[in-house]
Amino acid sequence: MRMQIKTLAVEDFPRCAELWDLKKQRTLAERFYSELQSGNRVTYVCEDEGVLLGEISLVFKMEESDYTIAGKRAYVSHLVVKKEHRRKGIGKALVEYVIEQAKQMGLRELTIGVDLDNYPALKLYTGAGFDRVLLIDEDKQGRYVKLMKPL
Ligand SMILES: CC(C)(COP(=O)(O)OP(=O)(O)OC[C@H]1O[C@@H](n2cnc3c(N)ncnc32)[C@H](O)[C@@H]1OP(=O)(O)O)[C@@H](O)C(=O)NCCC(=O)NCCS
Repeated sequence: MRMQIKTLAVEDFPRCAELWDLKKQRTLAERFYSELQSGNRVTYVCEDEGVLLGEISLVFKMEESDYTIAGKRAYVSHLVVKKEHRRKGIGKALVEYVIEQAKQMGLRELTIGVDLDNYPALKLYTGAGFDRVLLIDEDKQGRYVKLMKPL
């Protein structure tokens, strides 16, 4: 594999359909697209010879105020790796990449929200240093935790 991680150009957003169903998750897709256009979201993709294998994003201002602090704390959003390419280190590489990008931007903290029953994601994020618990709560999808990593 000749994997590389790069910033997704705003006009290439429809390519994310290779990774998740933009039509089924239309409201989410519309929000992500408008955030990309406004610069509130940056999406990084992992690709192998033009084929998308995974994505991850940074968001600078979230509605839930504990997730972001202007110039200091950003939120890591929508990490997804194509099913048939999981457990090959792609998720970890994307998380490490986003951490480096955030450091280069001068940010001091990253946050993430993870469902408490999402063991793979919890293991990946805690392993990458997201080990400060900001909050444990419950929403429509079930119990989740807000984690923070100092950079
Ligand atoms: C979570 C997800 C992104 C992980 O991606 P991945 O490319 O498979 O992860 P990696 O191969 O880089 O794994 C890194 C580490 O995470 C942990 N991990 C990942 N998947 C795991 C699993 N199924 N079971 C247990 N641990 C797992 C392991 O510690 C792993 O290290 P190891 O392989 O050396 O044991 C992927 O499972 C996914 O896309 N899930 C659906 C979307 C999702 O839940 N996103 C996160 C929302 S918060």
